Amino acid sequence: MSLLEVSDLHTHFVTRDRDDRIRTARALNGVGFTLQKGRILGLVGESGAGKSLTVTSILGLLHPPARVVAGRALFQGRDLLAMSASERSALRGNRIGFVVQSAKASLDPLARVGEQLVRVQRAHARRSRREAMERAEAILAAVSIPDPKRRLAAWPHEFSGGMAQRVVIALALVNEPDLLIADEPTTALDVTVQAQILDLLSAAVRGRGIGAIIVTHDLGVVAQYCDDVAVMFAGSVVEQGPVAEVFPRPMHPYTQALLAATPERLRLGAGLRLGGPPPNLYALPEGCCYRLRCDRSRDVCRSAPPLAQVGDQRAACHFAREPAEAEA
Ligand SMILES: Nc1ncnc2c1ncn2[C@@H]1O[C@H](COP(=O)(O)OP(=O)(O)OP(=O)(O)O)[C@@H](O)[C@H]1O
Ligand SMILES: [Mg+2]
Repeated sequence: MSLLEVSDLHTHFVTRDRDDRIRTARALNGVGFTLQKGRILGLVGESGAGKSLTVTSILGLLHPPARVVAGRALFQGRDLLAMSASERSALRGNRIGFVVQSAKASLDPLARVGEQLVRVQRAHARRSRREAMERAEAILAAVSIPDPKRRLAAWPHEFSGGMAQRVVIALALVNEPDLLIADEPTTALDVTVQAQILDLLSAAVRGRGIGAIIVTHDLGVVAQYCDDVAVMFAGSVVEQGPVAEVFPRPMHPYTQALLAATPERLRLGAGLRLGGPPPNLYALPEGCCYRLRCDRSRDVCRSAPPLAQVGDQRAACHFAREPAEAEA
């Protein structure tokens, strides 16, 4: 059984315009990917592709007007999307650790760090304050916060960006989750601190043998830290598979363009942005979501692309089996 198996996930924003007509932004259009225990999946795509929306949909953290309209997200075989809100929140922060985008803001400014670590433990397990405080100290040590005993009494504002990010990771890990999801865990940090945080995050995940999703727009991060990759475009996963197969031999034209355009970015870990019109979520094209940008687009692309598969690598493209063109 996969640790997490997301299939056919559709999330819409439904609003009304000035004339009271219903407008639907189809922000996620059949997102699917799988994650096995002990592996790290990089979820990549340019800004607005739907990465954050994918994880917040799965975790039941959407706010109106966003709504999951279809899909399944099997976590250890149980569908997160079919659960009640209370069942889901029993898993969140417990079996599933979540590091939100803009993580520092997720710390409670009015509670000492130790207190926050105690709170998240006692929300999910019967544990004495003293035992919880001991575990809090141990987890701060595990994320390499110097002098953890003393830091338990510190307030969030006393931490630098990098140290605060370690605290957020500690909060996500303190209940020994089976899955860790980190949304852009390092964007706000400078480059050296980014590397430290990612080293620590991947070591924590590997050491515990758990599964993780790292959301990033940085292909270099994926190359360095992830086993698998899922590439998103306009609310769809266009390609996924092991990094070792996808990066040297991308099958989808979008992945090919990303990788071709960014060899030096791949190395330097700079941002991810390709030219072409941003997809209009209120009027997505029929068929392939990428066809308006794709230089290989033909009439057949007006119909939904089939999923082509080579080994563990899958791509949603009518011409996915033409990797030789990309190598040329
Ligand atoms: N209230 C809304 N109504 C319509 N569309 C929205 C609304 N809020 C967000 N969206 C759209 O949902 C899409 C997905 O956004 P999401 O935050 O998941 O992107 P992302 O891939 O995480 O990008 P980033 O890299 O910038 O974090 C975006 O295209 C955004 O424009
Ligand atoms: Mg995001």
